[in-house]
Amino acid sequence: MEQRHVSPETLVAQGLGEADPGSGGLAPVINLSTNYEQQPDGAYPNGRVYTRADNPTSEHAERLLAALEGGGCACALFSSGMAAATAVFQSLLPGDHVLVSRVLYWGVRKWLAEFALTWGLDVEFTDTTDLDAMAAAIRPGRTRLLWLETPANPMWEITDLAAVCELAHAAGVRVAVDNTVATPVLTRPFEHGADLVVHSATKYLNGHGDVLAGAVLSARRDPLWERIRSWRRNAGAMPGPFEAWLLQRGMRTLFLRVHRASETALAVAAHFHGHPALAEVLYPGLPSHPGHQVAARQMDGGFGGMLSIRMAAGASQALAVLGEVRVFKRATSLGGVESLIEHRRGSEGPSSPVPDDLLRLSVGIEAPGDLIADLEAAIDAASRRPAPAGSGEAVR
Ligand SMILES: Cc1ncc(COP(=O)(O)O)c(C=O)c1O
Repeated sequence: MEQRHVSPETLVAQGLGEADPGSGGLAPVINLSTNYEQQPDGAYPNGRVYTRADNPTSEHAERLLAALEGGGCACALFSSGMAAATAVFQSLLPGDHVLVSRVLYWGVRKWLAEFALTWGLDVEFTDTTDLDAMAAAIRPGRTRLLWLETPANPMWEITDLAAVCELAHAAGVRVAVDNTVATPVLTRPFEHGADLVVHSATKYLNGHGDVLAGAVLSARRDPLWERIRSWRRNAGAMPGPFEAWLLQRGMRTLFLRVHRASETALAVAAHFHGHPALAEVLYPGLPSHPGHQVAARQMDGGFGGMLSIRMAAGASQALAVLGEVRVFKRATSLGGVESLIEHRRGSEGPSSPVPDDLLRLSVGIEAPGDLIADLEAAIDAASRRPAPAGSGEAVR
């Protein structure tokens, strides 16, 4: 039957709209086989040999995510977001100069600090929200990659993707965007010129806090892409079929979850903006946020479910609020159906650049009023009690 063109929202809700060819089932089957039968003439009928390289269940999730990010991109799933991110860095060559946004997810920063040098990469942190700083940091002929997040963890700084891609491409530099926080529901970096998109699929893509997975997507099937795929195959960074299957199931509700989390996060941010106990609410949806104008242009349908609050009375107050929440769950990670609260500095350790008065909130899909009332009550209660001694260690 002739197919009708549908939006990514419809495509993802229907899991690509393809019934299983064997059973006619609308949910895809999980293919657990680790190996594939070779024909007497030596051929492999579907081109698959061994599941460390290829697996049909992973391929289904990959096609779903590629359809979401758009632009005819290629997609490879990984066993975690960090496996995906490091595959990109490890596909570069010794001596390559790499620019990295100065505000970014701690795990990537830590990996770069520990392993980039031994890999021979020359890593430099730069402010990707400042085009002049970016232009000055690019070393023509030596800079190979610019790596950034927008909104960037955990200050939610916004980088103008189109402007940065234009600048980078003029100097022959590839741009990789960690799109974990915005998700393709709100931002599709390829439309702004990005060359690579990376995800921790553990977060919004799966969305239920029960899968560890990652993905790299590439605008082109070029030699760098082949190296990234080769890295996955040879380093064994494939996810298991169960994870890939759970991921495709989670992605079916991605639009609903991301839109709901974005609406609630905006309501929470607007409610607490100007609260006397807070020094600052960091959320790109607030007109007071320095990146708001760029975010309003670049993000489509919301500003995401992540925000941070900074307590006016400092770190002890932040820890006291953490101890008083009842509806928000005290936990690390983000992008799930339940709302989380975390003292990032405590989680990241003493060398963290995150202010110690900051609490990071991942807003879920609960009733917005319950979340606002919980935070309000926690802030109220915290202002009436001292912080527990040593609680900085307790939240790590
Ligand atoms: C923005 C971002 N990128 C990458 C990662 C790493 O992903 P994973 O935990 O799936 O390895 C995380 C994890 O928190 C993240 O927040």
